[in-house]
Amino acid sequence: MSSQDIPEENVPAERASDDHAGHGHGPVALADEQNPFADPGLPPHEHRIQDIDERAARRSERLVALLFVLSMVATVGFIASYVAIPNDKSVYIFPLGHISALNFALGMCLGVALFSIGAGAVHWARTLMSDVEIADERHPIEAAPEVKAKVLADFKDGARESALGRRKLIRNTMFGALALFPLSGVMLLRDLGPLPGTKLRHTLWSKGKLLVNMNTNEPLRPSDVAVGSLTFVKPEGLEEHDEDFQKEIAKAALMIIRLQPEDIKDKQELEWSYQGIVAYSKICTHVGCPISLYEQQTHHALCPCHQSTFDLSDGARVIFGPAGHALPQLQIGVNAEGYLEALSDFKEPVGPAFWERG
Ligand code: FES
Repeated sequence: MSSQDIPEENVPAERASDDHAGHGHGPVALADEQNPFADPGLPPHEHRIQDIDERAARRSERLVALLFVLSMVATVGFIASYVAIPNDKSVYIFPLGHISALNFALGMCLGVALFSIGAGAVHWARTLMSDVEIADERHPIEAAPEVKAKVLADFKDGARESALGRRKLIRNTMFGALALFPLSGVMLLRDLGPLPGTKLRHTLWSKGKLLVNMNTNEPLRPSDVAVGSLTFVKPEGLEEHDEDFQKEIAKAALMIIRLQPEDIKDKQELEWSYQGIVAYSKICTHVGCPISLYEQQTHHALCPCHQSTFDLSDGARVIFGPAGHALPQLQIGVNAEGYLEALSDFKEPVGPAFWERG
């Protein structure tokens, strides 16, 4: 027997009243010369299993409550992860490789918390709330006072039909989930401190560290760098499978460009270069995007995020965009074997400005 064939007396009173409110064939417009297609009206209403079986309705109610409780547990898990997991701990997750354990836990908990609230609300609406189908004619955009009054009355009806007052288990767990969830955001305020101290002042670069091509993983000689080319470089010894690769490359990423020495306008830039090869931090001084575009004719490097533009022939000063200061330059030279090497760490912090930068 299909749900359509269920005798009226088997349908709970509140559901039966739904049927009479809006289902079945409404007024049907017949075809005429102006409207050649007849309006078929609404299809016959099909009762859901929850409409005719109180035990199924209870099962749905428990499932919705379970999802809201799961959201609460995930939010508590988010807070616990934030407090308990050190931010330098990493885990291996296939196929991502080594990633921050804290970020993984926070992301998972936040995802589960949000998904559970959403899934609970959707399941509640699909199985337990009224599913009256209503056809509404088009009308002028501005509602008449009596329409507004009707909307208000419909809203109250909807609130009553959603059984928010009657299904206290759902109502209470939903309020619990919604009340607890914002705590995740409050916990993030903890990131406002403590101050970074000297952490942002040092990178892996130091005297004698070779410049390694990030694409070939080979140390670079001056002859490998053509005039007008842009090469991305990492410090010798830093490998992609290292646990702290992301953390270190975020500070140490370098780009080297070869200019004609006579094109270099800044005196210090010339002194810190080697035969026209200059090395600059790849991290934009605006909010830290990796700079990836270089225009050979103008010697301009462009950050793709907000179009900050730096003149690499003039101390990488900012000539356009929101970046607040020039890109830090790394002093380079050549070792006894003829490879390009750093002559020190950066002399100033790389990346965006921060309050202790001084
Ligand atoms: S991060 Fe480079 S311009 Fe904004």
